[in-house]
Amino acid sequence: MPLKILVGTQWGDEGKGRIIDLLSAQADIIARYNGGDNAGHTVTIKDKTFKLHLIPSGIIHEHTLGILGNGLVINPKSLLTEIMMLQDAGITVDPERLKISFAAHLITPGHIALDRAREVLLGKGQIGTTGRGIGPTYTDKISRKGLRMVDMLDLSLFEEKIKIHLEKVNRELLYNFQTTAFDIDPVVEEYLAYAKVLKDYIVDTGAFLDIALHEGKQVLAEGAQGVLLDVDHGSYPFVTSSNVTATGVFTGLGIGITPVENVIGATKAFQSRVGAGPFPTELDGEVALHLRGSGSKPWDEFGTTTGRPRRVGWLDGVLLRYARRVNGLTDLVLTKLDVLRGLPEIKVCTAYKDENGETALPPMGVSQIEQYQPVYTTLPGWQEDLMGVRKWDDLPDNAQNYVRFVEEISGVKVMLASVGPERSQVVEVPA
Ligand code: GDP
Ligand code: IMO
Ligand code: MG
Repeated sequence: MPLKILVGTQWGDEGKGRIIDLLSAQADIIARYNGGDNAGHTVTIKDKTFKLHLIPSGIIHEHTLGILGNGLVINPKSLLTEIMMLQDAGITVDPERLKISFAAHLITPGHIALDRAREVLLGKGQIGTTGRGIGPTYTDKISRKGLRMVDMLDLSLFEEKIKIHLEKVNRELLYNFQTTAFDIDPVVEEYLAYAKVLKDYIVDTGAFLDIALHEGKQVLAEGAQGVLLDVDHGSYPFVTSSNVTATGVFTGLGIGITPVENVIGATKAFQSRVGAGPFPTELDGEVALHLRGSGSKPWDEFGTTTGRPRRVGWLDGVLLRYARRVNGLTDLVLTKLDVLRGLPEIKVCTAYKDENGETALPPMGVSQIEQYQPVYTTLPGWQEDLMGVRKWDDLPDNAQNYVRFVEEISGVKVMLASVGPERSQVVEVPA
């Protein structure tokens, strides 16, 4: 019963969509288990680029089936826009190919308004959320007053529930945030229309996956965000509101732990972050400009969902060891190795230090890491363009050494190194 899990090991945007596309060649089912349309996963095949926020990135392959698990929060408007975008590109998305859990929660314009109002109230302490209503929707879920996909199956009950929800949101907007309330009726109409379209997609995805796994189907779990944004294990409070880590797969899909075969970590060759929060190896100046890019190339470090410039810095080995621990990583895929080209030297953080000495692991989670200074090992860079390289032996020695160093500091083997965004731009790393 083979289940492979792919998780981001940093603060998101590690290139998960690109890796899922590669791994999907050998998978039957690709399942999202956490988050919502705060995610932005890019897949590039030849001259075509897809930016996916909700639908699993594996859907681009013709033979696959996509699952949106119970752990998701779903904005139906974004979902339908994405379905249309894919259909326009000639990719069929219908209830045969996409199954949505009855227990996934629904994002409404009310949640989005609350997300934005809460950020405004936080002022300088803003989390820098994507503004997609993620936090308020998970808040409603945990406080047992959320709207679920299953509610869409009974239209009159759904109408009643959504009205009650929107009235509550309006009270909160008016009295807690002193902002304007919105017109409820058009939203109710809109959501009733979504219900009519989406009802055929709604199933018990956990039961569906269980049968598929017992039949020997290959299932690939597609993580959104990265471990350092996990609500339990990330840099709290500068996190998202879901369990991003590999353990989130089981609650987020409704299956047990036994089928797991591999837990693969997506790791960018350097560190990036969008939104506020600690970032010990953050850089500014020339090296930052090199890593981020100016925005002229499609892969430059500007948010896939929000377009915000990403903060960038050297690879943080302390946090990578932490990601290994909380996910039980068996393999890594190293992305954007090509971007390091042209730097005379490359630094990797191998420990943190403060007045008490050095530490190889974050002492108490990753919320307090700002107080540490990174300890760096400096490696020589390379001048060669890697984007055309397809074989390990054709990589420059210093690029090979970099990959091996990542294995050494993380304690996890690198299975693939990605040298460009396009499907074929990848190098298998020998053991
Ligand atoms: P995700 O959220 O983890 O799926 O990552 P994003 O799609 O948000 O951001 C990763 C960006 O890097 C996208 O623009 C990808 O096309 C691009 N990308 C992925 N792997 C590589 C790589 O190896 N080299 C380069 N140059 N770009 C890459
Ligand atoms: P993918 O799947 C990068 C960040 C936001 C913010 C914090 C909370 O593309 O890697 P939220 O809207 O979730 O409440 O925002 O989490 N964030 C991401 N950063 N990549 C993502 O997804 C992210 N999803 C959320 O920037 O700091
Ligand atoms: Mg992204």
